[in-house]
Amino acid sequence: MKLKTLLKNKTLILSVLLSITAYHSLACKNMCVIGAGYVGLIAGSKFAQMGNNVICTDISQSKINDLNNGIKPIFEPGLQAIVKEGMHQEKLFFTTDVEHAIQTADIIIVAVGTPMGKDGSSNISALINVIETIAKNMQGYTVICIKSTVPIGTNKNVLLQLDEHCAPGALYDLVFNPEFLREGSALKDFSINPIVLGSNSQKALDIMTELYSPLIERGCPLVHTDLTTAEAFKYTWNSFRMTRIMFVNELACLCNTVGADIETLVTSMSMSEQSMPTKNLKPGPGIGGSCFPKDSRALAHTARKVGERFCILEAVIKADQLHKQKMITTIYDLMDNNVRGKKVAIWGLSFKANTDDIRDSVAIKIIKKLLGNGAIIQAYDPQAMKNMHALIPDICYCTCAEKALEDADILVIVTEWQEFTHVDLKTIKTKCVNL
Ligand code: UDX
Repeated sequence: MKLKTLLKNKTLILSVLLSITAYHSLACKNMCVIGAGYVGLIAGSKFAQMGNNVICTDISQSKINDLNNGIKPIFEPGLQAIVKEGMHQEKLFFTTDVEHAIQTADIIIVAVGTPMGKDGSSNISALINVIETIAKNMQGYTVICIKSTVPIGTNKNVLLQLDEHCAPGALYDLVFNPEFLREGSALKDFSINPIVLGSNSQKALDIMTELYSPLIERGCPLVHTDLTTAEAFKYTWNSFRMTRIMFVNELACLCNTVGADIETLVTSMSMSEQSMPTKNLKPGPGIGGSCFPKDSRALAHTARKVGERFCILEAVIKADQLHKQKMITTIYDLMDNNVRGKKVAIWGLSFKANTDDIRDSVAIKIIKKLLGNGAIIQAYDPQAMKNMHALIPDICYCTCAEKALEDADILVIVTEWQEFTHVDLKTIKTKCVNL
């Protein structure tokens, strides 16, 4: 059957769709995937498996010839089977004719490579060329979905580029949809990983959500956000995973030197729910308490003593110090560098919520610095005021959060106590002089 005939004959598309057993997606889309590399091939074949009509394009004629002849360009478990099935079902096609594929598409997925340049920057020249081709060839309303990893801010420029080059009457929206595929388990990852969709168009978000609905119905988490946050998500995900890997790599060297068993260590760490590093991850003013600061320094010290490098841990300790310093700098910036005689309300004194422990709490650093420069501190904490009073007696301890705010020039929330999270910050504004 000719591709063109298939794409035009909606009744036929529906009957082919119903014969697909793996997924049932009634709202089948005509899709074009640009770049049949690792990411494009996985995405294209999975979308075809979900019942969509997918044309995968690539500038490499030999790659397209190989794919059409059943020769897989990469090894990835399960990939050959779903490519074969998609082709057999006439849901998946391979061509170098990118213009035609763009013209027939409701959704265009861009998955061209963005290799690293010599200076560590990302080379997005292929993406720029492809966007121009899309702009000149798309017809009707089209969702353009970028899957290529791009530097934060790129998609705002892509929108400008589309505006500049698009044909008269062409309607489109842009979505950034990063991929989190690990080679070796990419097909599985595609089906279980979070689906992050960034766009400034609700219509496009809805269309992409519908496209992914077979996976969402099976439990895939879905995140709708803006373009910039979605771009940052990809880099954050990889950098965070890399940080964890490097932590274990350096720990392994130290274990080797001191005679500890890294395998047991890593397995034991994975057993504890609490140690899941992405669970309950929230930013805060810095690390405190009786354990983290002391234990991290002790381990770094051990490493130095036995002649090992634990750069990642040293960096974490340094980053924490700088972060705490930044909290103080921010307060001073907001107070135009003059805190003398100013009233500073401090909510939260313990190093974290639900404890009265103030050891290494960031509140201590902040209060001491401000007091030293002549500020008037009005503090409140649901549990930790007694402990803080023993350490710093000469500040005003208030009976409630509201009292601490009276005539305050600035409010600093140090600890995330539940009672502070319910406060309406707009109401607070009326109670303070300078907020
Ligand atoms: C993907 C992402 O797209 C990349 O941004 C991310 O950082 C890593 O994963 P990947 O699929 O691994 O890249 O890249 P690659 O295997 O190089 O495939 C890209 C394909 O796009 C190649 O087959 C290339 O021939 C094709 N291509 C490139 C085009 O079809 N058109 C172009 O203009 C440029």
